[in-house]
Amino acid sequence: METSLSHMASFIAFVCTISLAISTAKSQSNVTRGSSLKPTGATTSWLSPSGLFAFGFYPQTDGYAVGIYIAGIPERTVVWTASRNDLPLSNNATLRFTSDGRLTVEQTQGQQINIFDTGGASFASMQDTGNFVLYESTGTVLWQTFDHPTDTLLPGQRLLPGQSLYSGVSETDQSIGVFQLSMQTDGNLVQFPNVYWQSNTGEDGPNVTLNLDSNGFLYLLKNSTFFILNFTQKGYPTKDSLYRMKLDLDGIFRLYHHDLSNTSKSGSVKWAETTNKCIGKGLCGVNGYCVVMNDAATCRCIPGFEFINEERSSLGCRRAYTIESCKNPDVETRIQMTNLDNVRWDESTYVIPKASTQEECSSACLTDCNCEVALFTEQECRFQRLPIRYIEIIDIEQKVGLIKVYKSSEDNRTNPTNQAIHLKKVRQKEVMVIGVSLVSFSVIVLLIAGIILYRAQAWAYKKISENLNVQLFEDMGPKAFSYAALEKITDGFKEELGSGSFGVVYKGIIESSMRPVAVKKLKQELAQGEREFQTEMKVIGRTHHRNLAKLLGYCCEGPERLLVLEHMSQGSLADILFAPEESKPKPCWTERIKIAVDIAHGILYLHEECEHPIIHCDIKPQNILMDEFGCAKISDFGLAKLLEHDQTKTSTMIRGTRGYVAPEWHKRLPITVKVDVYSFGIVLFNILCCRRNVDNNLPDNEAILEEWVYECYEANQLLKLVDYDEDVEKGRLEQMVKIGLWCVQEEPSLRPSMKRVVLMLEGTVKIPVPPNPTSFLGVV
Ligand SMILES: *[C@@H]1O[C@H](CO)[C@@H](O)[C@H](O)[C@H]1NC(C)=O
Ligand SMILES: *[C@@H]1O[C@H](CO)[C@@H](O)[C@H](O)[C@H]1NC(C)=O
Ligand SMILES: *[C@@H]1O[C@H](CO)[C@@H](O)[C@H](O)[C@H]1NC(C)=O
Ligand SMILES: *[C@@H]1O[C@H](CO)[C@@H](O)[C@H](O)[C@H]1NC(C)=O
Ligand SMILES: *[C@@H]1O[C@H](CO)[C@@H](O)[C@H](O)[C@H]1NC(C)=O
Ligand SMILES: *[C@@H]1O[C@H](CO)[C@@H](O)[C@H](O)[C@H]1NC(C)=O
Ligand SMILES: *[C@@H]1O[C@H](CO)[C@@H](O)[C@H](O)[C@H]1NC(C)=O
Repeated sequence: METSLSHMASFIAFVCTISLAISTAKSQSNVTRGSSLKPTGATTSWLSPSGLFAFGFYPQTDGYAVGIYIAGIPERTVVWTASRNDLPLSNNATLRFTSDGRLTVEQTQGQQINIFDTGGASFASMQDTGNFVLYESTGTVLWQTFDHPTDTLLPGQRLLPGQSLYSGVSETDQSIGVFQLSMQTDGNLVQFPNVYWQSNTGEDGPNVTLNLDSNGFLYLLKNSTFFILNFTQKGYPTKDSLYRMKLDLDGIFRLYHHDLSNTSKSGSVKWAETTNKCIGKGLCGVNGYCVVMNDAATCRCIPGFEFINEERSSLGCRRAYTIESCKNPDVETRIQMTNLDNVRWDESTYVIPKASTQEECSSACLTDCNCEVALFTEQECRFQRLPIRYIEIIDIEQKVGLIKVYKSSEDNRTNPTNQAIHLKKVRQKEVMVIGVSLVSFSVIVLLIAGIILYRAQAWAYKKISENLNVQLFEDMGPKAFSYAALEKITDGFKEELGSGSFGVVYKGIIESSMRPVAVKKLKQELAQGEREFQTEMKVIGRTHHRNLAKLLGYCCEGPERLLVLEHMSQGSLADILFAPEESKPKPCWTERIKIAVDIAHGILYLHEECEHPIIHCDIKPQNILMDEFGCAKISDFGLAKLLEHDQTKTSTMIRGTRGYVAPEWHKRLPITVKVDVYSFGIVLFNILCCRRNVDNNLPDNEAILEEWVYECYEANQLLKLVDYDEDVEKGRLEQMVKIGLWCVQEEPSLRPSMKRVVLMLEGTVKIPVPPNPTSFLGVV
């Protein structure tokens, strides 16, 4: 302790000289009530006494964030960030230590983000340890950033049981990214998603903490006394040194060292959890996998796939082109299977056909329209659907992934799919952390090699894909049909399948392929604007996800607007949930959970993963279709846009369906993706309870589903919500109810993003206790 104090003193002397040079920040020991900061201007942060750490605004992609960064070194190194789900902040934001002792960020339009909202803090201080502390007038600590770690641990800070670090999205986006390091209450330190690493100390709970000392010693401690696992050894130099542990963007946690005596030196990695740069599951997103090239993690797509976003390979990959109808004999001849050897992935098998060789497995998948991917292992063949997740290349030779792709009919010499591979430097930044002078030469060499490699690959890919585009053009988007053709397909609009808010649906059969389809005749209100309609059809046509109903074609003739969609044999989710028990057995608990997860994935895709984000605006069981494998597919997405066109005239019209619409529709608040999150919450309750939102045959307190759910949740009587003889996992039910309650919060900003909903459904992140959905209204 004494030694570290003297070291502290020596670097304080040093950094004091630096702080003089920093003009945009003001060094002050105590922050008083009524103080505030803006992202731009003379004072953007409050410095610690030595100037080593700063609390305040720092720049992000498209805006700013509030947090703590190391101000005493040249490169801005963020160690803590407030409200990571609300980023970025605009340049109009104001950070306030209010006169009643709260810490808040005011955005424009009166939006307020609370960092510490209990109030009553008398003064605050940014300390030289990197801890920002709020005090009572007596000097007692009320709140401190050390208790709320984000992705970094500083010396003296601990990760307590139940706490987690979350990686960021990118170097310039501190929002919550893919990876989690969780100090579990059983004593195990675990990394998610899909548990890709653990400390195996699960027997040591419940009082194990992850600790970092000022000499770079990183270890697990039990009962604050017993060392149970030392990650690093004691004895790193402490003189002029600052250590920090960070869960990096690639999911690996590392110990960094900063030499405070020489500002021209960058920080260096002193220790890393592993040397396997591809360890982080999900680093390359869905349908993507990671390989190490030139000592850097590199993402690739499985054959026949391309990156959703070149700049963010962690979003994963999608088909480079659509397989429209594998039953169409013309198309059939061009589909083939490609291998990806030595793989392992997260399995969601739906069929295990009889096939004892790889060839049999291949041809079985080829003849099954619903098989998109197969995994062949030791004489067993498993059919799977997209997306596939957590793909790993492993050492075991027998595992072969078989992926359905298009083959080019003209040029069978080259296999197009094997070349549809992009290279992506995942962590170029990491290279920069290493001493610049030492590696600059190799960096240049690497860069040149990288550029040549990338160019070569890009060129090869481009050539092939252009080639493919010409041939596959007709298979790519939805087809334009004439009204007469659709009249024929539906036999004069004879068989009605149902009707929804957008129009009536008829059954049809495409003669050439005998493929059953659903033809939706849109209401006349949607008939305006041929251009808008065509544009919207293109946008919808470009969505490809296993949980979205596929748009096969459309018709836009005079006032007529029709859509041609995949026909789903099992009808809608409403049919299977709300039908009288006698007519059809209801899906069992595990099937229902799967349906909920499917829907969440579909919405997440619409919101975040497709090219043009789509707000559905009308998520409800009637718009969710079920295929014969029990896979849920969302339909009618993208149509709200068409109504919006019409909306200018009748701005009070509500787009969604009563009962599923979020409260902001009624309040004329801006409509965001959070309206779909609300509707998802209600649908989740429908699924869990197999009943409609409003049922006037039930007693008053049970009639409105979401109120009844909250009542049961509060009374801890969740089993009342499900059939008494049903085999329900109580813990899982509670999780589901909590997620639903978060989704139906009246206040949109309290609702989680769809990404977070998916993480919660998967059990990857902890689900906090939800407040009463209407409690916010009580406050206003
Ligand atoms: C900060 O304020 C507290 C309480 O008013 C006071 O005891 C302390 O000395 C102040 N610290 C500095 C460095 O001004
Ligand atoms: C910032 O505030 C000003 C005036 O209050 C306003 O005109 C401007 O549009 C705001 N900018 C943003 C990005 O919200
Ligand atoms: C955990 O450790 C703290 C401090 O050492 C102690 O007070 C507490 O009782 C411990 N809890 C358990 C469950 O061991
Ligand atoms: C940890 O502390 C708790 C309470 O102080 C005690 O009951 C328990 O035995 C301790 N565990 C060990 C392994 O010492
Ligand atoms: C871990 O470090 C502590 C403190 O230096 C030491 O007492 C203990 O023996 C170490 N344990 C292991 C397993 O190396
Ligand atoms: C500071 O670090 C740089 C880069 O490592 C080195 O070239 C320089 O000599 C160092 N200066 C001192 C005073 O150690
Ligand atoms: C393509 O395949 C056919 C038969 O499978 C073969 O006759 C032909 O030579 C191949 N074309 C090329 C360019 O290799």
